Amino acid sequence: MVPPPVVGENGARDELELLEIELLLEAIFRRYGFDFREYAPASLKRRLWRRMSAEGLRTVTQLQDRLLHDSAAMERLLLDLSINVTSMFRDPSFYVAFRQNVAPMLRTYPFTRIWCAGCSTGEEVYSLAILLQEEGLYERTRIYATDINAQVLDTALAGVFPLDKMKQYTQNYIAGGGKREFSEYYVAAYDGARFSRSLTENVVFAQHNLASDRTFNQFNAIVCRNVLIYFDKTLQDRVHGLFHESLEMFGVLALGHKESVAFSQYADSYETINAAERIYRRVK
Ligand SMILES: C[S@@+](CC[C@H](N)C(=O)[O-])C[C@H]1O[C@@H](n2cnc3c(N)ncnc32)[C@H](O)[C@@H]1O
Repeated sequence: MVPPPVVGENGARDELELLEIELLLEAIFRRYGFDFREYAPASLKRRLWRRMSAEGLRTVTQLQDRLLHDSAAMERLLLDLSINVTSMFRDPSFYVAFRQNVAPMLRTYPFTRIWCAGCSTGEEVYSLAILLQEEGLYERTRIYATDINAQVLDTALAGVFPLDKMKQYTQNYIAGGGKREFSEYYVAAYDGARFSRSLTENVVFAQHNLASDRTFNQFNAIVCRNVLIYFDKTLQDRVHGLFHESLEMFGVLALGHKESVAFSQYADSYETINAAERIYRRVK
């Protein structure tokens, strides 16, 4: 018989907790289909602890019990795990690079499909739509904006963002190479800044899980920023495989400065278009 771990001995406690986390992630996957089994452990653990404390629970096993029987608790955990921080024209230099390096390539096609993966509440999608409009490309583009989390997609679809963020977003827009007045794109409504419906005319919002779902189209460009950082190496490789499969030959993969294709098995399939902003083009 396996002796119970002695509480107070750090190693044994950590091992037990690791086992509880593994079981919890397996349970979530089997009950709800959300696959967090290959998420980077440190940030995952922090977020689980936060949820346990918010739910008034002491152990990961208690959290598992709650999640299995209460889908509202699962929704709350999903919000914790999926870290939805985003903003318009986030990291403006990315948009400068996109205008300079990617827009001319997209212009060579009569029609383009862009996948914005892990789009959160949509600020990135609206930013891309604005950029494409200004570059005369929006009319011949369809953007597929996906996220694992249905709730953030509802916000994205509504297109209303907090008014008090508009000052920062205007600065980002200008630094990102914006060509008009940022205020032309929204009206101030009592509930926030309501963005023009024309920006989502060519956008399809859909739930898609990068950890377990398949490809669903062929794209001329994929934008996926600040998402892969939450995944471990195995899951990052899976997602790189998915992106590679989903990109047309010479299609663009835009990851932003925090992520890279360099250490994945697909590194050789791309040439670098912009090293600082980690923008690549599929060549194999
Ligand atoms: C930090 S936000 C990034 C938002 C935006 N791309 C940006 O850079 O501002 C990360 C997003 O990835 C989504 N996400 C996390 N895991 C995912 C998965 N397995 N499949 C699809 N989206 C996922 C989260 O729900 C969240 O909205």
